[in-house]
Amino acid sequence: MRMRNNIVHPGADELKYEIRKIVEVGENIEKTGIKIIWDNIGDPVAKGEIVPNWIKEIVADTVINDNSSYGYSPTKGLFVTREYIAHERNIEGGVQITPDDILFFNGLGDSISTIYNNLHESARVIGPNPAYSTHSSAEAAHSGSSHITYRLDPKNNWYPDIDDLKDQIERHPNITGILLINPDNPTGMVLPQNILRQIVEIALQNDLFIVSDEIYSNLCYGGVTHSKLASVIENVPGIAMRGISKEFPWPGARCGWVEFYNRDKNAQFARYAKSIIDAKMLQVCSTTLPQKVLPKVMSDLRYYPYLNKRNAAFWEKSQFAHSILSKVPGLLVHKSYGAFYMTILFEKGALREGQFLKPANKLAGEIIKPFLESSSLDKCFVYNLLASRGICVVPLSSGFNSDLLGFRITLLEPDMTSFKNTIHIIAESVKDYLNSK
Ligand SMILES: Cc1ncc(COP(=O)(O)O)c(C=O)c1O
Repeated sequence: MRMRNNIVHPGADELKYEIRKIVEVGENIEKTGIKIIWDNIGDPVAKGEIVPNWIKEIVADTVINDNSSYGYSPTKGLFVTREYIAHERNIEGGVQITPDDILFFNGLGDSISTIYNNLHESARVIGPNPAYSTHSSAEAAHSGSSHITYRLDPKNNWYPDIDDLKDQIERHPNITGILLINPDNPTGMVLPQNILRQIVEIALQNDLFIVSDEIYSNLCYGGVTHSKLASVIENVPGIAMRGISKEFPWPGARCGWVEFYNRDKNAQFARYAKSIIDAKMLQVCSTTLPQKVLPKVMSDLRYYPYLNKRNAAFWEKSQFAHSILSKVPGLLVHKSYGAFYMTILFEKGALREGQFLKPANKLAGEIIKPFLESSSLDKCFVYNLLASRGICVVPLSSGFNSDLLGFRITLLEPDMTSFKNTIHIIAESVKDYLNSK
């Protein structure tokens, strides 16, 4: 049967999420009797982190004693929660906001698709390469063509290549916004304030707005301090994104929010922001319970000591992974200073056709075979690692919209012995793979 008209959106092919796609293959391999170490998804809870009892008690108390936590909330979010967030934002200095500048979403995934869906299709937002694919895919899908990127420089701690950013903006007059992911997924890079200022200056010179995904802003370590967009944005229109998925961590709550900066400075930006708010209004509102809980958890005296403890553990893992993987010939690795990921890059020429790892059993080898034929070289390594050692990571090229070859690991494994073991296995596997041909 034919459809009367084409029902497929022109951007449909741009929607890719390798981070979850690889799970299907991993599950099939698991059925052959190989234990899989899942290191593909940034879900601390799935990886075994235990949410502290005091946070659970706050949630439980709200569920049992606050009947209104079962109801709808206002479209923008609960006023007291937005008031709390605005107050916390304002005491840090920088751009000042009111509760009216805050809009809650069902997780940042929801906000990401909403901001790009409501952007004029010819207006493009340039994003980092490597890229967190929820942003790059949604942006590409909104315009029906591939995402435009600026380089994060692996030879310079993964900091943005400012010349490349300027060059791309000049070459693509339809670029109207700059996306920052800070701290960054997948590299673990934290933007230094001077680079952030340079990017704000570029936005100012070219009449661009800035989107800054700051979902990991409280997950920084190794002596770096995180600078929020709000601290340097001055008069440039901007959107900052935050959430509780990674911080509490409570990804299943589906709760995140955006903060609009400087709507009063640009009428078009204000109109665009209104269209985002109107889109949320059509959906009624976002999840109520996590909004009820948010100020109680974040204002609790145990909150920041708890985050400090988690950050110290990420830092220990970042240093350990770096100490082992940076010694493997053919790899380029930097310590992570934020979020909980590390990008392991293959040096140019290290990967070649035909390299392999012996699969743990014959069936596992059969399962990955069809994927090896038309895949990028880093994806071939990732499938070999999966079938041979049962470790599931994400390839950089297809998973993070990158022209670089590598893979992303997470620093989430709570058990240090298991973490170290996995890193040693990855290091040995890379050596075996690169030496196999
Ligand atoms: C940079 C970044 N932004 C947004 C998200 C999505 O967060 P949420 O759970 O709020 O949808 C993630 C999840 O991994 C992320 O890494």
